[in-house]
Amino acid sequence: MVKRKMCIIGAGMVGSATMMAILNLNLVAEIVLIDQNEKKAEGEALDVFHTTSFTYVPNVMIRKGSYEDCKDSQIIVMSAGPSIKPGEKPDRRILTQTNANVTRAVMKEITRYTQEAILIFVSNPVDVVTYIAQNEFGYPRHKIFGTGTLLDTARMRRIIGEHYLVDTKNVHGYVLGEHGQTAFITWSICNIGGIPIDSVAPKFKLPPIDKEEILKKVKNAGLEILLAKGYTNYGIAESVARIVTAICLNELSVLPVTTTLEGEYGITNVAISVPCIIGKEGIHDILEIPLSLNEQEALKKSAESVMKLMSDFEI
Ligand code: LAC
Repeated sequence: MVKRKMCIIGAGMVGSATMMAILNLNLVAEIVLIDQNEKKAEGEALDVFHTTSFTYVPNVMIRKGSYEDCKDSQIIVMSAGPSIKPGEKPDRRILTQTNANVTRAVMKEITRYTQEAILIFVSNPVDVVTYIAQNEFGYPRHKIFGTGTLLDTARMRRIIGEHYLVDTKNVHGYVLGEHGQTAFITWSICNIGGIPIDSVAPKFKLPPIDKEEILKKVKNAGLEILLAKGYTNYGIAESVARIVTAICLNELSVLPVTTTLEGEYGITNVAISVPCIIGKEGIHDILEIPLSLNEQEALKKSAESVMKLMSDFEI
């Protein structure tokens, strides 16, 4: 088996939950946690390290480390920087300046040691930090992307599956665009097990979904969780684990992740989520899937909104 090494930058709620999710994949031989607060990284890593006798990966190494560990890592997850706190404006955009700075500082460190690893960005606003990482450091662009709307898509699939009492895995479709308020659902291609979403209700003998309500729920899910528990971590950690699986097994899976578009969908020089083929090289291809006119419009609007945010902060 290939001995895979992976670094997680940021030992907060997201980084720690990601460490646990990755451990349980049984795909990585070494997980290194890096944080400015070395004690915190050490504690979180040690806590997880002691659990390996309960897993099927007893020899996995889990420890705190430093940026030098990036040198021979295949995958690096970037989850450093603050997230929204209860009481703050519930908008991922308020983190823009701080996490732009954090991203630049972290990328400076990473690029001292590697141009090889696949970098997965998690910190918010994820579209903006991914853009910075992809465009300011000369790092191979296809090796960097952000979790984007993968989590929103998972939330959408779960909510629809719940309504129609059907396995979430059989709910197909995407949430695309910004990981934030301008995200939208690709209803025109949504289906359950091949049945177009608008024909599902009579087949399942259940009332139809309220599309606007579903979009609202999906977009507000992060906030809802934040208000209830103070942060979000498990959903995003499992999203990272899904991506890491696709990379480690070279699955060539189609996943909606955030990347800088260069003419795809008629959009240029902004990072938003669109379906991408993910495998061992990172993004193997950006897919241009058929969208309705409304959805094309929504994607453009979402791109414009992220562009505006970047220009507001002179990015
Ligand atoms: C969420 C964070 C990751 O939506 O933005 O849970």
